[in-house]
Amino acid sequence: MPSREHDVGSAADLDDGKPRRVEVNGRALVLVRAGAAVFAVRDVCPHQAARLSDGHVEGTTLACKPGQDVRYGREGEILVCPWHGWEYDLTTGRALVDPDRVRVATYPVRVVDDRVLVTM
Ligand code: FES
Repeated sequence: MPSREHDVGSAADLDDGKPRRVEVNGRALVLVRAGAAVFAVRDVCPHQAARLSDGHVEGTTLACKPGQDVRYGREGEILVCPWHGWEYDLTTGRALVDPDRVRVATYPVRVVDDRVLVTM
């Protein structure tokens, strides 16, 4: 089936950093707003299939060199699973702990005239 854009609601209705579950053609997605950006990922954790929409959004520690202070950043870009705390990068879908092997599907999002359009 060819991919196409689906209108999944108003961007203004999304609270910043609060996951929202939506369904498109029977497939559950999580929408997360981070300022002007909106991310969409599949609402199934690759570990044991928890709803990621029941999780929370935060940032993470940033890479640093030995001897440097650990810094925190990327607030709003990390989705945390509610069951066992696996963390997913909303920009790539990759798990922070094992990014080469564990990832959740991501979908392109555009916001046009306040409408959130997800391609899938
Ligand atoms: S089900 Fe998501 S971390 Fe276990």
